[in-house]
Amino acid sequence: MIKIIAAIGKNRELGKNNDLIWHLPGDLKFFKEQTLGSVVAMGKNTFNSLPKKLPDRKHIVLADDDIFNKDVEDVIVMHDKLEFIKLCNLEAEKADIFIIGGASIYNMFIGLADELYLTEIEAEAPADVYFPEFDKNNWKKEVLSSHEYDGIKYSHVKYYDRTDYGSYFDLG
Ligand SMILES: NC(=O)c1ccc[n+]([C@@H]2O[C@H](COP(=O)([O-])OP(=O)(O)OC[C@H]3O[C@@H](n4cnc5c(N)ncnc54)[C@H](OP(=O)(O)O)[C@@H]3O)[C@@H](O)[C@H]2O)c1
Repeated sequence: MIKIIAAIGKNRELGKNNDLIWHLPGDLKFFKEQTLGSVVAMGKNTFNSLPKKLPDRKHIVLADDDIFNKDVEDVIVMHDKLEFIKLCNLEAEKADIFIIGGASIYNMFIGLADELYLTEIEAEAPADVYFPEFDKNNWKKEVLSSHEYDGIKYSHVKYYDRTDYGSYFDLG
């Protein structure tokens, strides 16, 4: 399965200055629980924004060039968007693959994903990257849990059983 995982604000805010906007420890724990042991696919900015490679997960990174700020040993680096999507689809046939961002990669996969794991944060903030718009009417929705940290309310929400596969696949 192809699963998208993201934390988004009320206006689908994702990040600013190549960093997350909200730092919620409970969300990092959720991210780890969901993705551990799986393949994670991301764009170069997201890879570079990680403090380190994520332990016990196979990384696939899409990048134009090879300028990384951390060691890329064991990381599969793809330079071609269609080859990257093809490889992610192949991996998804074997086991779950998580699309972990950022905005450019979510845009590629929003029309293809089987499930979305969104941390919906009840706050808004200036951002320079946003999660793509998607029609919630085409998905079943389950609120997995709700929390509050430092006055910020958020819920982990799973979207599944979509009815609009491939309807807005961006071939770029
Ligand atoms: N809230 C969340 O859950 C969440 C999750 C992940 C990330 N984020 C945030 O999202 C932001 C990063 O997102 P982003 O969209 O700027 O970056 P990104 O998607 O992580 O990476 C973009 C990079 O991927 C490469 N790329 C993208 N399309 C390509 C293509 N067609 N061919 C070749 N390479 C391609 C390019 O690398 P080159 O530079 O080599 O050209 C491009 O600069 C950060 O603020 C991060 O904190 C938030």
